Amino acid sequence: MARGKRLRVAVVGTGAIADSHRAAYQAHHDDVDLVAAADVDEARALAFCATTEHAKPYPDLDSLLDEQEPDLVSICTPPGLHVEQTKKVLERGAWVWCEKPPCRSLAEYDEMTSAEREGGPYVSFVYQQRSGSAVGHFRQLLAKGELGRPLVAHCQTTWYRDAAYYAVPWRGRWTTEGGGPAMGHGIHQMDLLLHLLAGAGAGDGDGDSGAGGEWTEVQAMTARLVHDVETEDVSTALVRFGSGALATVVNSVLSPDEVSRIRIDCERATVELTHLYGHSAENWRYTLAPDVAEIPTEPAEDVRSSHAAALTPVLEAYRAEKRTPCSGADGRRVLEFVAALYKAAFTGQIVRRGEIGPGDPFYRDMAGVAAG
Ligand SMILES: NC(=O)c1ccc[n+]([C@@H]2O[C@H](COP(=O)([O-])OP(=O)(O)OC[C@H]3O[C@@H](n4cnc5c(N)ncnc54)[C@H](O)[C@@H]3O)[C@@H](O)[C@H]2O)c1
Repeated sequence: MARGKRLRVAVVGTGAIADSHRAAYQAHHDDVDLVAAADVDEARALAFCATTEHAKPYPDLDSLLDEQEPDLVSICTPPGLHVEQTKKVLERGAWVWCEKPPCRSLAEYDEMTSAEREGGPYVSFVYQQRSGSAVGHFRQLLAKGELGRPLVAHCQTTWYRDAAYYAVPWRGRWTTEGGGPAMGHGIHQMDLLLHLLAGAGAGDGDGDSGAGGEWTEVQAMTARLVHDVETEDVSTALVRFGSGALATVVNSVLSPDEVSRIRIDCERATVELTHLYGHSAENWRYTLAPDVAEIPTEPAEDVRSSHAAALTPVLEAYRAEKRTPCSGADGRRVLEFVAALYKAAFTGQIVRRGEIGPGDPFYRDMAGVAAG
């Protein structure tokens, strides 16, 4: 593949989130041509393509791949389709940028990533809350020791979804969505929390620290309090990290006062991120401990989190023929955490990182009920 050329990109599934992918590709128009989009709903594919410069609509992924041979494909279909469609694209040699949740289970994750090849193609997942300059700045401060050790954290996704939202057939069901708000909504904040803490003690803010920054055990509860769905509509969890730090997690779609929040109390400062669907530097508040005179809390530049910002490292990785961020073990971290949260809630047991492997019912199914 010619790495200097403009990228030919395509979108599969032209529903609600596809607009964010179109906007991201348009923001990178110097580099990228959005050449095609596929949806089984012909009217949606047509309407989507009409908002682009020259994307061609297709009724399915196969005909799009046959005719267009794209370099990179956005998967924006419901989660139950991600494994099959991602494998298909990777097997054709194109890279994949796949919406969250990556898929419905750890087994599916391992299956889809097994179609990757060294140097590409890779599949990376859209955890856009990790993007934006404030995240990297926090990780650098943490890695350099400016903040001291993280001690206790709160991770809150308290959103509101009505009955009309759950009228879309694939939502709220284990087989099609893979879970409730822990899987579909809170995954962004939980991924961000795990990503922020994984950087503790790494030295330069770029890498992950290993065991100390990773979660080690989780206890959890789920409930279905309002919606007529199969999955939970609220969950809570208690988490311990390798460093000894503790965290609480709440994922809800029942909360009229909607907020996404991460608060991390470190030895030298409390850092609090408060937003809803995206953040810039103004959403981050640093409160220094009484004996701390100064910490450089402002990032050098202020890039807001977004799909466009999350796409930048994906395109860079493509050009460099390197593994993308939010792929492989890095993309799997939060999915393993969600599987553990569900296992802990269903069994009433403490679940430890690494224990859900092939053979564990929660490896194949977030509800722990799928046959072998
Ligand atoms: N990153 C985020 O913040 C974010 C936000 C919302 C949704 N999402 C994720 O994006 C994905 C899609 O969610 P949505 O809200 O856009 O859903 P949606 O229902 O609005 O759109 C899905 C589209 O996929 C199409 N589709 C279904 N089967 C198909 C097939 N076999 N081939 C091609 N197209 C097919 C549907 O016709 C529909 O147009 C989900 O995984 C969801 O969790 C991510």
